[in-house]
Amino acid sequence: MATSQRHILVTSALPYANGSIHLGHLVEYIQTDIWVRFQRMQGHHCTYVCADDAHGTPIMLNADKLGITPEELIARTDKEHRADFADFAIGFDNFHSTHSPENRELAELIYTRLRDGGYIHTKTIEQFYDPEKQMFLPDRFIKGECPNCGAADQYGDNCEVCSATYSPVDLKNPYSTVSGATPVMKETEHYFFDLKAFEGMLRDWTRSGRLQSGIVNKLGEWFEAGLQAWDISRDAPYFGFEIPDAPGKYFYVWLDAPIGYMASFKNLCAWRPDLNFDDYWRADSEYEVYHFIGKDIAYFHTLFWPAMLHGAGFRTPSAVFCHGFLTVNGHKMSKSRGTFIKARTYLDHLDPQYLRYYFAAKLGNGIDDLDLNLDDFLQRVNADLVGKVVNIASRCAGFINKRFDNKLSAQCAETALYQQFVDAGTGIALAFEQREYSQALRQIMALADQANQYIDAQKPWVLAKDADKAQQVQDVCSVGLNLYRVLVCYLKPVLPKLAQESELFLNIEPMNWDAVQQPMLDHYINTFSPLLTRVEQEKVNAMVEASRDSLAETTRHKGQPPKSEMAEPIAAEIEYEDFAKVDLRIARIVKAAHVEGADKLLQLTLDLGGETRNVFAGIKSAYQPEQLEGKLTVMVANLKPRKMRFGMSEGMVLAAGPGGKDLWILSPDSGAQPGMRVK
Ligand code: 2FM
Ligand code: ZN
Repeated sequence: MATSQRHILVTSALPYANGSIHLGHLVEYIQTDIWVRFQRMQGHHCTYVCADDAHGTPIMLNADKLGITPEELIARTDKEHRADFADFAIGFDNFHSTHSPENRELAELIYTRLRDGGYIHTKTIEQFYDPEKQMFLPDRFIKGECPNCGAADQYGDNCEVCSATYSPVDLKNPYSTVSGATPVMKETEHYFFDLKAFEGMLRDWTRSGRLQSGIVNKLGEWFEAGLQAWDISRDAPYFGFEIPDAPGKYFYVWLDAPIGYMASFKNLCAWRPDLNFDDYWRADSEYEVYHFIGKDIAYFHTLFWPAMLHGAGFRTPSAVFCHGFLTVNGHKMSKSRGTFIKARTYLDHLDPQYLRYYFAAKLGNGIDDLDLNLDDFLQRVNADLVGKVVNIASRCAGFINKRFDNKLSAQCAETALYQQFVDAGTGIALAFEQREYSQALRQIMALADQANQYIDAQKPWVLAKDADKAQQVQDVCSVGLNLYRVLVCYLKPVLPKLAQESELFLNIEPMNWDAVQQPMLDHYINTFSPLLTRVEQEKVNAMVEASRDSLAETTRHKGQPPKSEMAEPIAAEIEYEDFAKVDLRIARIVKAAHVEGADKLLQLTLDLGGETRNVFAGIKSAYQPEQLEGKLTVMVANLKPRKMRFGMSEGMVLAAGPGGKDLWILSPDSGAQPGMRVK
């Protein structure tokens, strides 16, 4: 029970604005959301913020590939992420972006304070540089032959074929995955944050009960290995914030990502009168701040982040809660198995409440990995939620609705049983507070079993046959529905939608944790309608099929062609009418030109037999403009014009091939004339 109101700020890790939310992400958002909803039900003031993590090289390159600006990519992803989170009932108070004025201001402030405190120094380092793309390359954009076994196309840290580990400089025949060019080593000056200066503070902080034991052990190893200065700058071109006193140098994405927690909160404070930024973030704040993260990013959150905050005069987190990774059917999520399931694909087939329940049923407060076994998922959701919980309501409601004008008994016929349910709330609350959700749900399901046993023993459907026993029927069903209400109250952090629909059905106010102290007596309920349906095997199968990528993740052995040279799978069948919608025309390329600032595009002027079109085509890697002028080709003439960074593109030319230099535009036989329809 809430004794005094706590003020709590909670965050989940910021997803990259570069990809879709998948079930792996959802473990964390669901875990956090349950905790936040639980705290609110306890009467605490709990605020939950998140944001998209919008900076970095991958986002810059990806936007480039799509022919859009990083800002456009961020806006697209923001929309997608918000919809996914809303549909899974992840109840953020604010979802912001690290590419925001608040984040720029806070990142500059923190950096400046660290610099003025003497915690920043510069050093010249050597880094791989792509001479064609004219940019420094993060290690993940370099591939080459394994120095150990010679396997082609291996990343710069380890070999997928022989498992050898090495550094990118050891790769043979390295190439940039951005342009294909051979990278060169180039010197550059970088900015470093002096983590070592915070060793004493970090040793105390990490040992003060804020971290799980598995993480404390890991930290022990890191301290042992020695804390290294952290490289916080990247060279232009980079999508991020320029460092205030260092033109051409940008904050590394991981510098401003956690600051995004503060920025999202600051943005929220601007329109929420109950929140004050400094109350939560000043060095001596008594309010609580918790970060939920995956164990893979513990280093950033338990070393760099508290050190940065402390060095800049802000408070440090009250605790960092790490969780393990998600496996599906006992394996890493896999595109070829169809178990790399995006949030949206799941939503297209299944009710999000099932997943919230299943994850909760498997989550403890440790850092062990969590397995989504799809057979167990189906079985468990059906047995627990449909078979046990909702079943109680459906067994009792009909009698009350039809025979007693929706009215519950004036007396509780089983006060001891009801009190036992109320008393169990203390232990269940403790389990939620400690993030031991699987324990909480086990206790709730044990109560559900008891409620069902009670109804089984009383047999209202038998009593109902005897007109003299009407009062008993009403009493038994009233007890059943009162017990159902308690169960739904305890499940509310996990299943807010079921709770809301049940509150409507039971005709009660939204419940907080204390709402069930007294049973509903002499109370009118509404008509029952099914609150949850069973998980169907066909829908689970369909979700897996929709997630399956048949060519993905096939291990490529020596001598096999790289993926780019393998035949692409034939796309799903379409109707003739679908094909007929595409208006393919012969076009003559009357002019071709480079586009300033575009790495992949050529600007083509196409003659369609009287009509001229401007088209940007991603074929620069394969053609010089002069090779194209005068050629006939095939274009999609009725493609909706698309606004690109460089202008409007009014159609598309057809080309084939894996990409890079190996790309060929389609050319018709002589005799074809511009404007002719291709049939
Ligand atoms: O690992 C990730 O997906 C990062 N985008 C998490 C950032 S969390 C926080 F530090 F911003
Ligand atoms: Zn190897």
